[in-house]
Amino acid sequence: MIINGNTRLFGVLGNPVEHSLSPAMHNAAFRARGVDAVYIPLATSELETAFAGIKALPFTGVSVTVPHKVAIMPLLDGVDPVAQKIGAVNTLLFKQRADGRMQCTGVNTDWIGANRALEEVIPLKGASVLLLGAGGSARALGFGLKEVGAQVFLHNRTEAKGQQLAEQLECDYLTADQVQDQRLDILINATTVGMLPLADAIPLDADLLSNFQVVMDIVYAPLETKLLKEAAHRGCTTVAGSNMLLYQAVEQWRLWMEEDPPVEVMHTALIEGLKRQQENQIPPVE
Ligand code: ATR
Repeated sequence: MIINGNTRLFGVLGNPVEHSLSPAMHNAAFRARGVDAVYIPLATSELETAFAGIKALPFTGVSVTVPHKVAIMPLLDGVDPVAQKIGAVNTLLFKQRADGRMQCTGVNTDWIGANRALEEVIPLKGASVLLLGAGGSARALGFGLKEVGAQVFLHNRTEAKGQQLAEQLECDYLTADQVQDQRLDILINATTVGMLPLADAIPLDADLLSNFQVVMDIVYAPLETKLLKEAAHRGCTTVAGSNMLLYQAVEQWRLWMEEDPPVEVMHTALIEGLKRQQENQIPPVE
């Protein structure tokens, strides 16, 4: 491609970002649509300085990833209400104000990506969901599920952390014993269990999986985790973590470009990138 003075600028702010697959997905979508735009990795450990620079440059949209998703929030002019509840932002939207200065709003599309991946196979309004985990991912998914009217139950290895998140989500916490007796619509693994290189691990006893209709894993390395394999074997409908990754990027593109992106093109770029990384044993990064 030829970059010139009209080329629109996008990027991903994080550290490290060299293995992020966001450039592959967004650039593939720009190429497919013939959009004069480029999406670049923006690795930095100096968030404040980097953000001031980005705000002073003609960026149209920027993704934010680990470790800056929380720390960037106080630097922004505004934060969308769901991102505020989640306490993390993964997308920046830039708008020129009347006085010519740039206004930057933070949004979280992780929960939108998870919900869309699930809604391809099951309606979420009124669905009962067991969410495993109490870290940043569980938090984003939990608030997102509440947003669309799902009934959330939470379980976590460390009970105190799980109880705390359950309180914030205003949902029930289930102990390991209580989990055994539940028959629910959806199970979501929002822990890191099953991620390469420990791909033999599973976050819930495989014999309990037939208690759920749909099983989703946020782990996308390997592409099909042990949890998803065992769930499919027991007749559950499965949702791969790579779909959440895809749809959070799809939603970013939609917000920045104000139109729907070529989803299949982004999906192909993502899966090819993930396969390449997993063949070369590169650790997964958003
Ligand atoms: P993220 O930001 O991706 O959510 P995190 O904040 O490090 O990552 O959270 C990781 C989650 O995976 C936590 O819920 C963690 O459980 P604890 O709160 O008990 O630490 C869970 N987790 C990690 N390893 C686990 C394991 N071996 N068994 C069960 N849960 C595990």
